[in-house]
Amino acid sequence: THIPVIAIDGPTASGKGTVAHRVADKLGFHYLDSGALYRLTALSALRRGTSLTDEHALAKVAEHMACSFSGGDIILAHENVTDAIRAEEVGNTASRIAALPAVRQALYGLQLSFRKTPGLVADGRDMGTVIFPHAPLKVFLTASVAARAERRYKQLIEKGISANMEDLLMDLQARDDRDTHRAIAPLVPAEGAHVLDTSQITADQAVEQVLKWYAAEV
Ligand code: C5P
Repeated sequence: THIPVIAIDGPTASGKGTVAHRVADKLGFHYLDSGALYRLTALSALRRGTSLTDEHALAKVAEHMACSFSGGDIILAHENVTDAIRAEEVGNTASRIAALPAVRQALYGLQLSFRKTPGLVADGRDMGTVIFPHAPLKVFLTASVAARAERRYKQLIEKGISANMEDLLMDLQARDDRDTHRAIAPLVPAEGAHVLDTSQITADQAVEQVLKWYAAEV
């Protein structure tokens, strides 16, 4: 198809979500938060008590979950789980089950279905490498662990959730480690990806840069 995709990958708390969302808004494109799909699978599995080592059962959970996205809200079986899927426990579980090939396979088709006219901005870890390898623009956002931990800390405090910097740093490093070193769809810049370090720039500056790259592509 000729429906354009902008693939934006990067580690946790690199600012990808904010940047991808704003780029989608500016261009009037659809938006895929692929991490939310892994988080939804994790939340479903935690609630059902599915064993987190039973790959086959987890893939079934991923395949059959009744989720929908409407106006920024994420719905799972008629319940608004927009906030619930952001819990640290859900994120950590998501990162564990995301290492299972059958789970990734189960979410493949759902991710492709987000590609609709006039275009898609897809945010994740393997958007440019696996899901949309022919995307006309691929961006890899990074930021230092310290900058990312600080952002996460501020987000949590703003939400009234208590946070500890040491724990956040350890958590980020553990998750980076899992995402980067897993055998399947590891977090690496796609071939031809533009790498952007957001440690020292604002989200708006990152958005501007992505839009410039996109304008140069089309
Ligand atoms: O981006 P987010 O933190 O919401 O993603 C949660 C977890 O889901 C990540 O830590 C990662 O392990 C996994 N994930 C993935 N592939 C994607 C998106 C997320 O493996 N495309």
